[in-house]
Amino acid sequence: MSNKKIKLPAPKKEGNKSLEEIIYSRRTRREFKTNQIKTKELSQLLWAGQGITDPGMTKRAAPSAGATYPFELYSCVHDVENLSDGIYKYVPNQNELKNISDEDIKRELKSITFDQSFVSKAAVNIVLVADYRKTTDVYDDRGVRYVNIEAGHIAQNICLQSESLSLEAVLVGSFDDEKLTKLLNLKDKKPLYILSIGKIK
Ligand SMILES: Cc1cc2nc3c(=O)[nH]c(=O)nc-3n(C[C@H](O)[C@H](O)[C@H](O)COP(=O)(O)O)c2cc1C
Repeated sequence: MSNKKIKLPAPKKEGNKSLEEIIYSRRTRREFKTNQIKTKELSQLLWAGQGITDPGMTKRAAPSAGATYPFELYSCVHDVENLSDGIYKYVPNQNELKNISDEDIKRELKSITFDQSFVSKAAVNIVLVADYRKTTDVYDDRGVRYVNIEAGHIAQNICLQSESLSLEAVLVGSFDDEKLTKLLNLKDKKPLYILSIGKIK
């Protein structure tokens, strides 16, 4: 583990397709090409999920109950240009990645997702990791509902951004919670969702 920090390319604030076109064409396609994706594409996907979108640097791309922001995005990198395989945590305020492991865990992820084969063919698997306490400290038990709802907002933003970049994102809710928690060394945080992303065949 290096704890190395990697500055990401600045995200674009404009695209070529309209929101309506993107919503209309978005589909789950589970056949990935093995080609790598670009670092600027990964940067764009992470920005759409949790990037900073206000001049005061306090608000993010997806809404959050009471702006408590309980989520972290873990990128399990398997084939991204100029990025060594491994696990990276997204740091929204600095628009950078923090390297937390140099291990390529695509085989482990395939097994943890009950052998969904596209998972090991993705260029990157983005895991949505929640610290429920950030929201339940403010909203008590109802905070649990808010965190679960927020996962959908973040995932949808990433899916639509992926479609806009002509990449493919598959939502994966079916996995072994305990094994993924251990693999990513999450301790009290919980993995809620995986997005397997790659090039369309
Ligand atoms: C909460 C949730 C969990 C999902 N989990 C999986 C999964 O584990 N594996 C998978 O291949 N697709 C999964 N999907 C994708 C759905 O199968 C897919 O969205 C659905 O078939 C509708 O197709 P569409 O996305 O092309 O509109 C999941 C979708 C949601 C919303």
